[in-house]
Amino acid sequence: MKYRFTTLAFISLLALSACGTREYKPQDYILEMNYKSDFRILQLTDIHLSDKDDRDIQFKFMDKLYESANNPDLVVVTGDLFTFAGKDTAKSLLKYFDSKNIPWTVCFGNHDEQCYFSVDWLTDVLTNYGSNCLFKDLQDDNVNGNCNFAINLMKDGKVHDQLFIMDSNRYNFNLSQLGYDCFKEDQINWYESIVKYTKEQNGGETANSLMFYHIPLPEVNAAWEEGTKIYGEKREASCPPDHDYGFFVKIKELGSTKAMFFGHDHINNFEVDYQGVKFCYGIKSTDRIYHDEDMMGCQTITIHDDHSLTIERYYHTYAEVK
Ligand SMILES: [Fe+2]
Repeated sequence: MKYRFTTLAFISLLALSACGTREYKPQDYILEMNYKSDFRILQLTDIHLSDKDDRDIQFKFMDKLYESANNPDLVVVTGDLFTFAGKDTAKSLLKYFDSKNIPWTVCFGNHDEQCYFSVDWLTDVLTNYGSNCLFKDLQDDNVNGNCNFAINLMKDGKVHDQLFIMDSNRYNFNLSQLGYDCFKEDQINWYESIVKYTKEQNGGETANSLMFYHIPLPEVNAAWEEGTKIYGEKREASCPPDHDYGFFVKIKELGSTKAMFFGHDHINNFEVDYQGVKFCYGIKSTDRIYHDEDMMGCQTITIHDDHSLTIERYYHTYAEVK
């Protein structure tokens, strides 16, 4: 993964994450859905659609993933939707997601700014998409990133589970922190404000939450070394940022988030329990950019009434669609 930083990151020098000055209330960042028993989320990741790709083949391949997931309740794409894509290509992928008539949302990856449009443009399109798209970003807010929001899964007037969709940002060009970017302090404060607000709304009970973002936290390496391995392989070095502001410490302190789902490293698919939090890679969902033939597909995350999770993986090859 590191060579991809050196070859592509500098294209992004002028496209840094948006951050305004306006302060919003926690509730301004929250969307709602009804929770139903065995709520199933389809996670797609690292699609990397570009202008030169055969979209028909790519969409047929993703059709297989939707078929495997068997009518999920929500689709979450954990970043790197595009690389070197123009607006028409971007709109075609969003239209594809929406055509499934299943609620869907996305967060952004580091490659989503290496396109012929800005992440701010993509953010505007998604925020105003309507239809089946659940996306919310307040571009003039005082929180770094382009996709920090929560989806509350409501049951009997309370938050059964909360889904954090967050922006792990893209590249950091500060020479002392050069590399992939990390969650910023204001994002950690934002996360804390949402957890505490939701606790108040839930009668003083901290809501269980899951988190979706793109670049794994730095603790992913210790998690692999020291955690309890539940599933999968590590075929490449994990590439988290070298720098961070203590997000994992805050996550453990607040006790809300029980599992985190991310992408970024295309040929890792492991699930590890570490210090009370599950670290779980998604499955790369196309063959764009580097991949392994036997590690392409998707995973589903089922939330049960008792908040336990069932995670299932589905692998496919392009021989099925060509
Ligand atoms: Fe990627």
